[in-house]
Amino acid sequence: VIKRSFSTSMAKNAIKNVTVIGGGLMGSGIAQVTAQAGQNVTLVEVNADVLKKTETSIATSLARVAKKLYKDKPSDGEKFVAETRGRIKGSTDPIASVKQADLVVEAIIENIDIKHKLFKDLDAAAPPTTLFASNTSSLSIGEIASVTNRKDRFGGLHFFNPVPVMKLLEVIRTPETSDETYQAFMAWGKSIGKVCITCKDTPGFVVNRLLVPYMAEAVRMYERGDASARDIDTAMKLGAGYPMGPFELNDYVGLDTTNFILEGWHKKMPENPLFEPLESMKKLVSEGKFGIKSGEGYYKYDKK
Ligand code: NAI
Repeated sequence: VIKRSFSTSMAKNAIKNVTVIGGGLMGSGIAQVTAQAGQNVTLVEVNADVLKKTETSIATSLARVAKKLYKDKPSDGEKFVAETRGRIKGSTDPIASVKQADLVVEAIIENIDIKHKLFKDLDAAAPPTTLFASNTSSLSIGEIASVTNRKDRFGGLHFFNPVPVMKLLEVIRTPETSDETYQAFMAWGKSIGKVCITCKDTPGFVVNRLLVPYMAEAVRMYERGDASARDIDTAMKLGAGYPMGPFELNDYVGLDTTNFILEGWHKKMPENPLFEPLESMKKLVSEGKFGIKSGEGYYKYDKK
């Protein structure tokens, strides 16, 4: 066993400036928790309109955090919100946004070609020491990194929705991710208050690799008519202690997302029966029924 000493390189590499690309559901949460930890964030979106929406959603989420943390002292809460927001700078220029970055976290649309284009541009623009990470749920980190010249400084940082609430961060190493990069990712995850686990660059990492087939099996039971969606949910909540049943979880995650992940994995691994596409899910998605966000999925929801 070879033991290495990390102490000197760790301090030198402490991450202070983080660029988050994509300010949707995940990116806005990643930007928020990073700023809450006292680090400087540049948040990149496609245009000023989307950027504004992102900033509003972060402000709303921060107000919620402040209400909890500063119940008895609302003035401190306001200060906390203002200071945290002050550390987040919006941008629509990905090239300029990475010039000072110690770490870039990508959380844009789940599309390999669009991610490749982005990372090619970023790789040419960022200092050689900048670490790159993708928050992808279902694509291969090695494949995303393949277009860059910094495969040793590239890895996966996979967050969970909602980012400010969910404690877990999956840190993904490809065979080319260096020890130093990996250690920097682990230290950074801790610095923003997450509990890190490590996983190889394998489809779905830990959580989704186990969760997606489980949700798919639940749908298959329902499609066979073995039990109703409601009863399967009740069974898993009361019999297995899960906080949500598989259909509630499917509707929460978004049927379009789960369907997309399953289709991608099925294409890659057609021999694995766990990843067979699901008829009822495909139908709901084709009808625009994505779950909670569209008002209907396996269940119907009151639109607010
Ligand atoms: P989203 O659709 O809410 O947000 C994506 C954002 O990226 C949009 O606001 C879009 O305008 C922006 N964008 C697209 N192309 C861009 C570009 N070239 N430059 C800058 N911004 C760009 O998607 P979501 O859910 O936040 O997912 C983002 C990534 O995070 C995906 O890779 C997904 O697999 C991953 N992920 C999603 C989770 C989830 O529960 N939704 C959980 C963990 C990871």
